[in-house]
Amino acid sequence: MNNKVIAVDGPAGAGKSTVAKKLSEIINFTYIDSGSMFRAITLKVIKEGIEIDDIDRIIYYANNSSIDFINNNIYLDGVNVSNEIRDSLVNAKVSHIAKIPKIREAIVIIQRRIARNKNVVVDGRDIGTTVFPHAFIKFYLTASVEERAKRRYNELVNKTQYSFEEVKNQILSRDYIDSHREASPLKQAEDAILIDTTGKNIDEVITELLYHISMNGGI
Ligand code: CDP
Repeated sequence: MNNKVIAVDGPAGAGKSTVAKKLSEIINFTYIDSGSMFRAITLKVIKEGIEIDDIDRIIYYANNSSIDFINNNIYLDGVNVSNEIRDSLVNAKVSHIAKIPKIREAIVIIQRRIARNKNVVVDGRDIGTTVFPHAFIKFYLTASVEERAKRRYNELVNKTQYSFEEVKNQILSRDYIDSHREASPLKQAEDAILIDTTGKNIDEVITELLYHISMNGGI
């Protein structure tokens, strides 16, 4: 099969999802937002009132939930939760859920199934290292912590009671947990192209990615 995978990894607020989504539209690939699946399970855990250290119950609920993508929206048990999963409460808990190896295994299976017969752009933390180690091209997006926190704060403003400092600390804490966990931690794959998005707008980043794709033989 000749279907292609483009992997976009990096820390919180690096611009992965905006860039990956737009890139997928330009090149007519399917977009897979892997973080949204971890977020959907986290939302379920919050709604069911499960403690984040009650791993068996979390796994039970994850295995008994349905996650679907329809027109770039994510549905949890049949309900469109695309907005709710971006909530600050989810931000605060998601990395604790994403550390659980069984949860990661389940989400890897879903991603590989979606990509089986399609060209995909996938964004996340472990796409180039674990989920699709043979991806056609891998990008690792990053930016300064200040800039990443600013972006996230502007996204959440009016929707959160958190201050800029709190949003920045949440990002730092998530980066720490994501890059220090045992199961597929956040790290740049050896063959990934590093893109520093500090001070760059979306179109500038997309232009850079398209340049590298064309240098790689195009799609
Ligand atoms: O948009 P942002 O970068 O803030 O987060 P996200 O991509 O929606 O991911 C939310 C969280 O899910 C991350 O902080 C990780 O803890 C986890 N995640 C992961 O472990 N592996 C992935 N492939 C994607 C997300």
